Amino acid sequence: MKISTEAFGLGASLITLTNAKGVSISFTNFGARVVNWVVDGKNIVWGFDSCQEYLEKDTYPGATIGRTAGRIKDGIVDINGQKIQLNQNEFPQTLHGGEDSFETKMWAYEVIDNGDMAEVKFYLTSEDGANGYPGKLDIVVSHSFDDNSCWAIDYEAVSTKDTVFNPTGHVYFNLTGDVSKPIDQHRLKLAASRMVALKDKTEIVRGDILDIKDTGLDFRQEKPMQDAFVSGHEQVELVGGIDHPFLLDDVDLDKEQARLTLGDLSVSVRTDRPSLVIFTANFGDLGTVYRGKALANHGGMTFEAQVSPGSEQISELGDITLKAGEIYRATTMYQLNK
Ligand code: GAL
Repeated sequence: MKISTEAFGLGASLITLTNAKGVSISFTNFGARVVNWVVDGKNIVWGFDSCQEYLEKDTYPGATIGRTAGRIKDGIVDINGQKIQLNQNEFPQTLHGGEDSFETKMWAYEVIDNGDMAEVKFYLTSEDGANGYPGKLDIVVSHSFDDNSCWAIDYEAVSTKDTVFNPTGHVYFNLTGDVSKPIDQHRLKLAASRMVALKDKTEIVRGDILDIKDTGLDFRQEKPMQDAFVSGHEQVELVGGIDHPFLLDDVDLDKEQARLTLGDLSVSVRTDRPSLVIFTANFGDLGTVYRGKALANHGGMTFEAQVSPGSEQISELGDITLKAGEIYRATTMYQLNK
């Protein structure tokens, strides 16, 4: 693995790993995020050129999200029967762990070269009470990349008090390499027959799980994203695209859960988390500019592996409680095929 490091502004680094196939992937310790994934000269993920640009335009692309990904209604969680108020950065909701969460932190890091695989390990301590979350939390997020072009994210964390923890990774893909082009013609295969319904424009969950078999949101048979966009499905109409937690039929890290394809390029997603939140960047004409290109509506899409948001309202979704001293572990992998 070829490893290089350069300055990324505000004292942060950009670390680039280039494998034997000439495919490279770059990470920064600002937000423990992925910035570039370049194959045949094409950058298939969203990224900016400096920390300052993330701060000015959008801090979420590519970032590690936490302590809790997605929206928490009224920013209230129940821990051991006690109601805890979290920071309400999308008032009255908590979005992605509240303001200035993992995505704007400078993480410590080290790079480990294992020859045909290299690993960038990011470390952060989130103080007891940060954004209202109980417990001092020590987190390690490891991004690894190998000669088969598999990018894996491993999460490990431990808290000093009982708390809630549900991190994710917020990479946006656009396999055209051009964010001014929508992902409409990307083909998606997704092993999910159920989805969590959103209530209204606030995008908090409604309280029910939808069967999506044979609807516009059924991707068990691969089909273009456009089919969902024009399906007239009430949930698609509500948010102008997809911004939903899909519940995986068979949670198993060894199984391909999703595959996004354009031409001869595809990315397979595997995870041990029970759901994938897919967000199709429904920014309308409010999208920002990435390296001189104005973001199209539906100019990218995420695969945010996590326990579905809304577990406070729908217990079937899972439990995001992390007990004091217990070790949290999760893994998500993105495999590039061409
Ligand atoms: C997504 C979320 C979207 C939007 C985005 C950040 O995970 O589902 O609604 O908030 O993050 O811009």
